[in-house]
Amino acid sequence: MDKNKIARFDELLSAAKDAYLRAYAPYSKFHVGAAALTADGNIVNGCNVENASYGLTICAERNCINHAVVNGEQQFQVIIIYTEQDKLTPPCGACRQVIAEFFEQSAPVFAVNHKNAHKQWTVQQLLPDAFTPKDLVDL
Ligand code: THU
Repeated sequence: MDKNKIARFDELLSAAKDAYLRAYAPYSKFHVGAAALTADGNIVNGCNVENASYGLTICAERNCINHAVVNGEQQFQVIIIYTEQDKLTPPCGACRQVIAEFFEQSAPVFAVNHKNAHKQWTVQQLLPDAFTPKDLVDL
């Protein structure tokens, strides 16, 4: 879907940039901000938060989604990942799995950078045949 047709894209990008400015990444120095539009029309954001115990690092996308869940939102329309890298930043594997939990397969995921370059995928393209809540129905 064309980014110009995404509802409130500029607002979302601005929320992702705000989160980027709050990234806590003293080890990798790789700052990431994310923002998502919820099904209810609210904008939520998150940044990456690293830890001296490196494996405890949480990515911007997962913090963004978890932040929304704490606020009672469990469905999302679109997510933007913002970095200041020339090479646009795709979501890592763990984040793809968490995105697949809460977004429709057809939902758009955007990577945007400081030069306003962008790349987009659908959730389905990022994680085909994802393991989702639908796989647990027989339990
Ligand atoms: N990171 C994110 O926040 N999101 C991504 O999509 C890729 C990686 C973070 C994790 C870590 O703090 C830093 O970027 C370098 O991997």
